[in-house]
Amino acid sequence: MDDAILILDFGSQYTQLIARRLREAGIYCEIFGWRSAKALEFAKKTATKGIILSGGPESVTEAGAPAVPQALWDVKKPVLGICYGMQTLTAHFGGRVERGTTREFGHANITADHGNALFAELPEENFSVWMSHGDHVTQAAEGFAVAATSHNGLVAAVADDARKIYGLQFHPEVTHTAFGGAILQRFALDICGCRATWTPDHIVETAIENARQQIGNKRVILGLSGGVDSSVLAALLDKAVGGNLTCIFVDTGLLRLDEGDKVMRMFASQKGLNVIRVDAAEKFFAALQGVADPEDKRKIIGRCFVEIFEEEAGKIENAAFLAQGTIYPDVIESAGAGSGGKKNDGGAHVIKSHHNVGGLPEEMGLELVEPLRLLFKDEVRKIGEELGLPRDMVYRHPFPGPGLGVRILGEVTAEAADILRRADDIFIEELQTAELYDSVSQAFAVFLPVRSVAVMGDGRAYEPVIALRAVETVDFMTAGWAHLPYDFLDRVSRRITGEVKGVSRVVYDISGKPPATIEWE
Ligand code: XMP
Repeated sequence: MDDAILILDFGSQYTQLIARRLREAGIYCEIFGWRSAKALEFAKKTATKGIILSGGPESVTEAGAPAVPQALWDVKKPVLGICYGMQTLTAHFGGRVERGTTREFGHANITADHGNALFAELPEENFSVWMSHGDHVTQAAEGFAVAATSHNGLVAAVADDARKIYGLQFHPEVTHTAFGGAILQRFALDICGCRATWTPDHIVETAIENARQQIGNKRVILGLSGGVDSSVLAALLDKAVGGNLTCIFVDTGLLRLDEGDKVMRMFASQKGLNVIRVDAAEKFFAALQGVADPEDKRKIIGRCFVEIFEEEAGKIENAAFLAQGTIYPDVIESAGAGSGGKKNDGGAHVIKSHHNVGGLPEEMGLELVEPLRLLFKDEVRKIGEELGLPRDMVYRHPFPGPGLGVRILGEVTAEAADILRRADDIFIEELQTAELYDSVSQAFAVFLPVRSVAVMGDGRAYEPVIALRAVETVDFMTAGWAHLPYDFLDRVSRRITGEVKGVSRVVYDISGKPPATIEWE
């Protein structure tokens, strides 16, 4: 195992950011909920060099507040507490934490004392940090020095070089904190002595090796959707087990323009990769006939997909494994107490219920292989590039499992899907030409079954409307509409009404999430 840092999660909205900052710096880490039994197991490994305590929504001033289990302290590895993490370690060692009258949210200026190992190498003493707290430490615990003070007069950091235990009231994982990355690296690399081995080529090597060990000489089936995760998975497993991998690509008729052909072409270049393409559009449209409710549509699409996949998979002899593109955010154990996160007391991994086409049933009797389960999306992309997949595939916007089925409002028909596909393709092509594609997180067209009047030539048309949606978001939980330039929108609108027969009008969606979800259904 690589040298690693354990992140103990107290439910902060920033916990995953801590992990991503470390991983970006080549430092392997894993996140465990503060109650998780697996945290102790992980902490005891010799490769685990230190522990970071995340922030959290609770107050240590309340009875029964979350705390680091004594057994974890007994492991005696270096500790860095962030925000709630600093408060809980201060309380543990007998310092004082109080409900503050001064709350600090957003930017704050601090002065840091360079006389301790954590801050010794910082280029400046006064710098700006990101705060988000109500409680604060009013007295450092015995053995700890106050290592930084905010300009509001509050303790901003504590340090005990002898025991290698540190606390930060601010959030080094947030990019608004000056030197935040440097502080995290100083802790992990210098104080903990963790080696930065987590690089894309090494990630690929490790994933291939692990998959090879798990799968051996047996046969694996993979549902290839054309999305980033399943494509990277296919390329990775191809390297790991070669001819023992069979990919099944189901064309639902609800994919983007020429998507099936593009996927087949992309993998045609990977010599020897077995991809079975199933053209199932007719079956999907038949099943969706007369159905307008979005959730019913999702269920039907999901069910059809499973039936077709199972049928194809059944033809493959001696299949033992089913590969899934599960990634780390789906499996992270989150303390999440009070923060709306996934609550997990027992230590078993919480698996997000994939409301996805591709959510395959357990009774297929195949063992799961999930080589991406410890990777963040940006890491999946990096290894996709490392494995030689084209950049435009690796950086593609997300596409929902039910595909155009939830972008055609109301009943889904083959005609509507054709119109939508062409309008969507124009929008995406123009975004790429204008070099705006990478600056938005997700962009697509939506087919509105309302009809609107248009004058076309000398005639009157009464036809459906296309809505364009483009959003900017970090986590897809909240999103803002992208402020695309007017002349750009003008060009897209003219092209769609001019080139796609059956569209009378184009509108641009200017709704944020919340309240409007990213997809229209
Ligand atoms: P919403 O519409 O919930 O979308 O704001 C958030 C993100 O999730 C995607 N999405 C889905 N993905 N199956 C999927 O695999 C679905 O049923 C589904 N619904 C929404 C959406 O495209 C966006 O990226």
